[in-house]
Amino acid sequence: MTERFSGKIALVTGTASGMGQATALRMGREGARVLCTDINGPGAQATAKAIVDAGGEALAVTADIGDPAQCRALVDQAVNAWGSLDILCNVAGFGGLKSLQDETPEAWQRMFAVNVHGPFYLSQAALPHLLARRGNIVNVVSTAGLMGQAYMAAYTASKHALVGLTRAMAVEFGRKGIRINAVCPGGTATPFLQHFAVPENAEVDLIARLMLRPDYAAPEDIANTICFVASAEAEFVNGSLISVDGGVVAG
Ligand SMILES: NC(=O)c1ccc[n+]([C@@H]2O[C@H](COP(=O)([O-])OP(=O)(O)OC[C@H]3O[C@@H](n4cnc5c(N)ncnc54)[C@H](O)[C@@H]3O)[C@@H](O)[C@H]2O)c1
Repeated sequence: MTERFSGKIALVTGTASGMGQATALRMGREGARVLCTDINGPGAQATAKAIVDAGGEALAVTADIGDPAQCRALVDQAVNAWGSLDILCNVAGFGGLKSLQDETPEAWQRMFAVNVHGPFYLSQAALPHLLARRGNIVNVVSTAGLMGQAYMAAYTASKHALVGLTRAMAVEFGRKGIRINAVCPGGTATPFLQHFAVPENAEVDLIARLMLRPDYAAPEDIANTICFVASAEAEFVNGSLISVDGGVVAG
C-alpha cells in the first residue's frame, strides 16, 4: 500500500511538543518530507531527528510565528529545500485562564499575533504553492473556537478568528482545488495545559463544563484527525470544523 503522504511536503508548526510533534512524526512516518518548526528550537530539532532516525526526511527551523517575516521565511525554507509545499498545518498556539479584567493590551496582542496572525501570514505565503499542487491547510482551533469559554476571552476570541479565516479561505479558494479545514480539540494531555491554573475567585463550575469525560485526549488522537484531513482520503472535506473533544461542544 502506498503511504498516505509519500511525495508530499509538509510544514508543521508547534512541533516541539504535543499535537504538532505527534502530527509531524505521523506524517514523517507515512512518507512526507516535514519542515518542523517551533519557537522552541531544540524541541523542533528533536522531532525532526526522530523522523530522520526512523528513516524519513525532515528539517528543523526555529521561528516565532508571531512575526510575519519569520512566517514568510518558513515557507521559503520548505520550498528552497524540497521545491514546493503541499500541506500547511498551523498547530502552534497558546492559551491560559485569566479573568477578563486582568487582560492587558500586550497579552491580547500577543495572543492574536501567535494564534491568528501567524496562521494568516503562513497561509498567505503558502498559497501560491498550495494552488500549484492542489494542497491543503489544517488549522488547529479548539472547542474555544466554537463556544464561549469563561476566563479565556482573548484565547476564545483568537480561536473564533481562526475559524473565520478557515471558512473565508475555504470559500475563496475551494473552487481552485485547495482545501482549508480546522480541527477543534478539547482538553488534550500536552504541556499547553500547564498554563491553565484556575484564577483566584473563579466560578469553577464555568470551567468544569468544558470536561464531559474524566480523561484528556492524547496528542496522537488529534494528530490522527489532522493527518486524515490533510490526506487525499479527505478530498471533499473543505471549510469543515472537525471536533475531537469527546462530545463537549455537542451540548
Ligand atoms: N492541549 C489542549 O488541551 C488544547 C485544546 C484545544 C486546542 N489546543 C490547541 O492545540 C494547539 C497545539 O497545542 P498543544 O496542546 O499541542 O500544546 P503544546 O504546548 O504542547 O504545543 C504548542 C507548541 O507551540 C509552540 N509555540 C507557541 N508559541 C509559538 C510561537 N510564537 N512561534 C512558534 N511556536 C510557538 C510551543 O513552543 C509548543 O511547542 C494550540 O494551537 C492550542 O491552542 C490545545
